[in-house]
Formats: sequence, C-alpha cells, structure tokens
Amino acid sequence: MDPIRVTKATTRKPKPKDTDLAFGTVFTDHMFVMDFEEEKGWYDPRVEPYGPFSLDPATAVLHYAQMLFEGLKAFRGPDGRIRLFRPQKHAARLNVTARRLCIPPIEPEMVLRSWTTLVGVDREWVPSTVGTSLYIRPTIIASEPFLGVRPAKRYIYFVILSPVGAYYPEGINPVKIKVIDKFSRAAPGGMGEAKTGGNYAASLLAAEEAKHEGFTQVLWLDGAQRKYIEEVGTMNLMLKIGDEVITPPLAGTILAGVTRDSALTLLREWGVRVSERAISIDEVLAAAHAGSLREVWGTGTAAVISPVGELAYKRERIVVNDGKIGELTQRLYDAIVGIQYGPTPDPRGWTVPIE
Ligand SMILES: Cc1ncc(COP(=O)(O)O)c(C=O)c1O
Repeated sequence: MDPIRVTKATTRKPKPKDTDLAFGTVFTDHMFVMDFEEEKGWYDPRVEPYGPFSLDPATAVLHYAQMLFEGLKAFRGPDGRIRLFRPQKHAARLNVTARRLCIPPIEPEMVLRSWTTLVGVDREWVPSTVGTSLYIRPTIIASEPFLGVRPAKRYIYFVILSPVGAYYPEGINPVKIKVIDKFSRAAPGGMGEAKTGGNYAASLLAAEEAKHEGFTQVLWLDGAQRKYIEEVGTMNLMLKIGDEVITPPLAGTILAGVTRDSALTLLREWGVRVSERAISIDEVLAAAHAGSLREVWGTGTAAVISPVGELAYKRERIVVNDGKIGELTQRLYDAIVGIQYGPTPDPRGWTVPIE
C-alpha cells in the first residue's frame, strides 16, 4: 500500500467554540485526497491543506452524478482519547456503493488509513463536549472530463472533516414524521441501498413539503406498492409492537445503516425479540389503534437514536408513547453513546482509537 504524503497547512483557521457548532458548516485545516486513473489504479494518497478543487465543466460527476459518499464520526472521550465508531463497517459500505455506481473500489485498509491519518493530523479539531463530534465525509467523484454516458476512467477520492454540535443540546426531542405516499425514493433494482447523491436529490421535494407542514422528516414507503415502510430521510426505522422490535429488511431499497446494525446487535444481546421483516403502514396503524404500538425510533449516525413522537399518514395522526421517548429507545441511545465516547466497555471492537 502506498505511503500517505502529508503536507501541512501553513496557516490555521480559528476553531469554533463547542457551543457554536452546527452541522456541516465549518471544515478543518486539512483534507485527504487520492486519484484514480485506469492505467495506475488508485494512487498518490495524501493529506493536504483544505481547499477548493478546480474542475473542467465537462467533468462527468457534474452531469451524470457518478459519485458516492459516506458519513461517520470521531468522538473525544472524557479520557481525552479520540475514537472512530465502526469505521470498518463504513469502509465496507463505501465499496458496496462503489460497485453499484461502477466506481473502482478502494482497499478497505487504505480507506481506514485515510480516516485515521486525517483525523490524526486534525486531532485538535475534535470537540470535547459530550454530544459533539468530528463528522467525517469521504466522497468519490467521477473526474474525467467526458460527456458520454459510461463509467468514467478517472476519479478523485477525498475526505473532509467537520466538527459538529450536540444533536440534542436541550435533551432528546421526539420528532414528527410524515409518511409519504405521493413520491418514492427507491424501487426494487434501483439505487436505494447505495449512498449516492442522487438518492438525496430525489428526496428533497418530499422533505420540503413535509417541513412546510411542520414535520421533521419523511418516512418512505416502498416504491412498487407504496404499502410497506422503508426508511426515514437519513435514518432507518424501528418499531416496538407488543414486545417485539420490527425493522424493515435489507432488501436493496434502503441503506444498510451502521447504527441500525449496532442497535439490532445490542437488542439481540439483551434478549429482545427482533424481526427484520416487511411491515406495512396498515399494520402500524392497526397496532396503534389496538394500543400495542409502544415505541418508534430512527437510527442514524447524525442523531444516533431519534425517538418518533408522531407519525402522520393521509388523514391519520398517530401519537407514539404520548410523544415521549420510550424506555427501550433511551436504553439504546445510552448504550451506543456510552460506547462511542468511551466510558462503556467495547467488547465487540466497534471503536478504533486514533493513536
Ligand atoms: C438514507 C439513509 N438511511 C439510513 C441512514 C442511517 O445510516 P447510518 O446508521 O449508517 O448512519 C442514513 C445515514 O447515513 C441515510 O442517509
């Protein structure tokens, strides 16, 4: 594997206070970059000062959206140590998306080193207040200037870092979700399970309409029948009906969330009955009417666990657990956050420390 060249920035940007941090607005002093050409493969991995790219207007990604991205976080624990949460799982998913988009894969070990090296160089940017973190955004773009519709022959892999604020500075607030049956996000055989920009562009109109009506995010139904629940804007969804936790299966149309996998692992270890199966919105409504819909929550890197207080579908509004966070939802949140920041033991090897 090629060694990573490091060129340090000669000037440093001012760092925001932990209390001023938002999401994705401030970027650190450095970025990681690596290039791909057909004859050379991936080459010249390097850390360099953060800055803009110069791209030919014909660059393929600007026209046909051949790109992918990932999103994970580094946390600074009370012991001062910095840890990445499940980076191997994110590296594996990066390559799953790469295959779907005809982008050449990157050796997982190289992906991991790109993250640990860059976070190591910009370690002073990892905030320390509980709830804050350093968001890592790896991206690959098709960089060949060419207007034909075919996989590009040149790519740029880059990683940028952004210190982000506490998702719940005033305590956990259950969200209101609108179940969408007017638009769909993904279809069988489509790109739903890929982390690629087009999926997010496709989601904007529905999300904007829902926001104007006072909802936080939308819950997508399956594209073929608009009957089965799939996922929320940037979260996977779990429902506790009676004593069982149900979540839609990984059937190609939803993202295989790393937080989803972490929550399912913990629930199974705790002896909770878990089903990964198709569940229709009608079944959710019937459970709500019968009084057996106990808790609903979303899982995702941004909020970790996000309780759902209200679900709206057509003319119905379901209030879940009186709009308050449920017991299991809280337990999951505490368990995962405990592992991410360090006080809780990590017997599964989910965290990778930055040395
Ligand atoms: C569409 C979508 N689903 C689910 C998730 C949750 O995935 P993860 O837990 O890996 O962050 C995300 C966020 O990354 C997402 O964008």
